[in-house]
Amino acid sequence: MRMVDIIEKKRDGLELTKAEIEFVVDGYTKGDIPDYQMSALAMAIYFQDMTTEERVHLTMAMVESGDQIDLSDINGIKVDKHSTGGVGDTTTLIVAPLVAAVGVPVAKMSGRGLGHTGGTVDKLESIKGFQVELTSETFNRLVNENKIAVVGQSGNLTPADKKLYGLRDVTATVNSIPLIASSIMSKKIASGADAIVLDVKTGAGAFMKDLEGAKQLAQAMVQIGNGAGRNTIAVISDMSQPLGFAIGNALEVKEAIDTLKGEGPADLYELCLTLGSQMVYLAKKANSVEEAREKLEEVIHSGKALEIFKTFIAAQGGDSTVIDEPSRLPTATYTVEVEATDDGYIADIIADEIGVAASILGAGRATKESNIDLAVGLVLKKKVGDAVKKGESLVTVHSNRKDIQDVIEKIHHAYQITTNKVEPKPLVYDIIH
Ligand code: URA
Ligand code: CA
Repeated sequence: MRMVDIIEKKRDGLELTKAEIEFVVDGYTKGDIPDYQMSALAMAIYFQDMTTEERVHLTMAMVESGDQIDLSDINGIKVDKHSTGGVGDTTTLIVAPLVAAVGVPVAKMSGRGLGHTGGTVDKLESIKGFQVELTSETFNRLVNENKIAVVGQSGNLTPADKKLYGLRDVTATVNSIPLIASSIMSKKIASGADAIVLDVKTGAGAFMKDLEGAKQLAQAMVQIGNGAGRNTIAVISDMSQPLGFAIGNALEVKEAIDTLKGEGPADLYELCLTLGSQMVYLAKKANSVEEAREKLEEVIHSGKALEIFKTFIAAQGGDSTVIDEPSRLPTATYTVEVEATDDGYIADIIADEIGVAASILGAGRATKESNIDLAVGLVLKKKVGDAVKKGESLVTVHSNRKDIQDVIEKIHHAYQITTNKVEPKPLVYDIIH
């Protein structure tokens, strides 16, 4: 087989075979196929697209390019959740203990974050003593005992994706549905889950800015998952404004604790129940999504979900007293209220602007090497649709530096206030099976 013939075939809009796709992924991972040929193929895929079969073959070839996590020692149907990313997305910290409390085994592999805030691992590390480096034996044992454990990413997962993603980033080929969908799904499948619930975000703070694009991506990922024998469902949810109130690592841990007590922000609570009930249903712990939801509401009201969160923190060496005393989490030196300059209604909160504001405070990483400040971040006091009076607080800034004029300007820019009454935005747009 020759790479040049494969590029030509895709350039002309023809379908590649499984053997051809495997040849490409294998050769590129090993370094036998140079970047310039892979770039040409990525661009051909960008313009000519791929069939569902091609997308499944590409995904599975990337899965097989590296290690695959074996979760077979864990009892039950392992369901993973993946979010395409957004601002203030605290869902994993809540959904994981929530579904574990109704018996769904949660074997979560998580990364450190780049961007607005840290990843789930960073957030959990704001709890003193919390340990994310576990051997696979300990990890499996903890999931069997407590139904939940979170481990930091290790090993050599999907090296083909890592290399290709880096290449796409500099060849204007990131924004291609078949390439994004296979990239995300290869990592999920290599992580070993039997079933997958995807939270595909849409809006200003999301990767997919418009609903149509989000739907196409969701459909592509659901088809790949099911084509690869993993039961997959996608929820399309709003990310035009940040989710919940808190953006920042320790602040989001506190928000997760509040939500597990049933005292969190309404949008975050609702999305967690939506995602969680799909997970419980896929794990066959309920006969319908409605029954799953009732079970989740029950473990919130009974306190069992919070109890599982506590057990999970303690089992991984963390200070579980933070759950009853969140003031033990890292706190910032200064808190500053950002006040509304007019009376009116909140028409929009541009999520990515808020994300940048949190990031420049130090809540997120600019590069993989930078340190994050776990204590800092923002707590939104007003969301879209809320009425506001001049001088009322829009946001509380938690900062470790005194001069935060740059952050305040970003927040004022993000908040759009109008004189007309504004309807709140829908939270869940669609569910794709
Ligand atoms: N996230 C990924 O993991 N891969 C992509 O291609 C895009 C976003
Ligand atoms: Ca949040």
